[in-house]
Amino acid sequence: MTNPKLGTCYYPEHWPREMWEKDALRMVELGLSWVRIGEFCWSRIEPQEGSFDFEWLDAVVEVLRRHNLDIIMGTPTATPPRWVLDKYPDMLAVDKMGNERKFGSRRHYCFSHLGYRKEAARITREIANRYGSTVQAWQTDNEYGCHDTTLSYSMAALIGFRDWLAQKYQSPNALNKAWGNVFWSMEINEFSDIELPNLTVTEANPSHVMDFRRYSSDQVVAFNSIQVNILREFTSKPLIHNYMGRITAFDHYDVGADLDIASWDSYPLGFLEMVSDADESFKAKYAYQGDPDFQSFHHDLYRAVGRDRWWVMEQQPGPVNWASYNPAPLKGMVRLWSWEAIAHGAETVCYFRWRQAPFAQEQMHAGLLRVDDEPAPAWEEIVELNDEINALTTIEQVTSDVALIFDYPSQWAWEIQPQALNFDYFHEVFDTYSCLKKLGINVDICSSDDKKLNDYKIVFAPSLFLTNNTIENCSAHLVLGPRFNSKTKDFQIPNPLPPNVSGLNVVVERVETIRQNMSRRLKKPGSVVRWIEDISHDASVIEETECGDPIVLQQNNKTYLAGCLDQEAKKRLFKKLLKDQNIKYLEMPDGVRQRLTKNHRFIWNYSNENQNIDGISLCPADVKIIEKR
Ligand code: GAL
Repeated sequence: MTNPKLGTCYYPEHWPREMWEKDALRMVELGLSWVRIGEFCWSRIEPQEGSFDFEWLDAVVEVLRRHNLDIIMGTPTATPPRWVLDKYPDMLAVDKMGNERKFGSRRHYCFSHLGYRKEAARITREIANRYGSTVQAWQTDNEYGCHDTTLSYSMAALIGFRDWLAQKYQSPNALNKAWGNVFWSMEINEFSDIELPNLTVTEANPSHVMDFRRYSSDQVVAFNSIQVNILREFTSKPLIHNYMGRITAFDHYDVGADLDIASWDSYPLGFLEMVSDADESFKAKYAYQGDPDFQSFHHDLYRAVGRDRWWVMEQQPGPVNWASYNPAPLKGMVRLWSWEAIAHGAETVCYFRWRQAPFAQEQMHAGLLRVDDEPAPAWEEIVELNDEINALTTIEQVTSDVALIFDYPSQWAWEIQPQALNFDYFHEVFDTYSCLKKLGINVDICSSDDKKLNDYKIVFAPSLFLTNNTIENCSAHLVLGPRFNSKTKDFQIPNPLPPNVSGLNVVVERVETIRQNMSRRLKKPGSVVRWIEDISHDASVIEETECGDPIVLQQNNKTYLAGCLDQEAKKRLFKKLLKDQNIKYLEMPDGVRQRLTKNHRFIWNYSNENQNIDGISLCPADVKIIEKR
């Protein structure tokens, strides 16, 4: 392990050539090691089909390398120029309402379009060939799935989907059976009878939609792997993709399996505003800091996706432009977010972007430098951070006692059939995560078939759609439910009824969902919310409703939740589970979080108030690093 590095996202094509040298000098002065370039510059390197202008990019690479800056080169495939669209007018993604997503911003391509895939492969080969031996890392495309771009209802998708189904089912009758197409006379005679599952009169068959979700995820994997295979011909340097926060429409573990490092783009304030489920008062309380658990959730998730190697490719440095409201971070938060990432094992944190752009869509988005070239407020925080990093002894990560499963197909399944307006898989997993973090413990996020699951003392698998052999044979204490294994892989109700897991005599006989304001009180403080299962069982009852309905049960090495618990009930249960497994926990003061590594204890304060923990006081946005001796 080496000490973490800092970097920035740079768009030399936005600035006159005379500025590049000084920019590089100032990057070095700030202590940056990495510069990401190239991911949106296709129209400048290939203004017309087959006519290339690499001279300017060669010059940029030369300047940066002369200053010993390491380069992450992006493949520019997220922004195909106008002439590519003229060549393939049907390459545009199509939204659920059947509307083409037009040229004029970015990510307008459809992953299924074979012509565009060829075009993306061609430009990737050109760049890989030119810079394969010069740059130090590669980024494929940019933020797959962002702006709701995984699912496309185009003709290319329809053709691809039919073919995918024919390969999967081999015969129309096998598909009819798996989907239950006898219902409503939906049976097909040929694979060419299949439509995409949009614009149906009422809901489409969930089995149909689930297969379309799997197909769509596979197209992202296939699109990425084309670039990976080409890049590997020209370089042995790490290949990376920059994922986003709470984008769940494709399976990131599958994309990550082809890459060397996972990275993600961390915009704490934008995410709190735009993708958080929190209520208004929470959003107001953390408006200048972000949700205290959202960033670390993704750090832990992408550590798993990157098989322990991960970066922050874009870190918010000031107000962004794309949320409903765009406050400036509380002074100190850029440093805090950076330390939080580093504590979770980030090898590199890059700030987006070097200099604010005076033109186009993101002119209201802060950079490290202002438009007039003066340092923006984040600059000073990075100077401080860099000194601190240089003074720190090597950070070594440790395996946690607790794993939490995050599973993309479960997200698709419960999006397709939520059964209640307020049921969402990401929310269930994140709520579990957040409760564990308030107890001060490290959490490793894992896929449902992670071979390491046996190494943990407790494995939480909230609302997992399908069980598998790894889970069935796992020796850790398993915390399952609600909805665990409650469909077949074809999306039908299984018989025997769920959860149908060995060593747990629980049968879910009926489920009901209730409104947000209709929680059902437990005998002990706290409530069941959203989802409640009627069960028969011969397990020990740990929690029950005031009416005596069993809600938390235990048998052998399993705990089953027959409903969603609110935070109060969760906390009580989790403390018991941790205690039973001899795992030390510590209740965190409001907004304070920590991470323990082999030799360090990192503590930070997201709250607006001074906080105290173990005699250590933290002002708002404070970070304390305690070296264990
Ligand atoms: C990211 C994206 C960047 C930039 C940034 C603005 O999602 O990768 O290109 O748009 O957001 O916050």
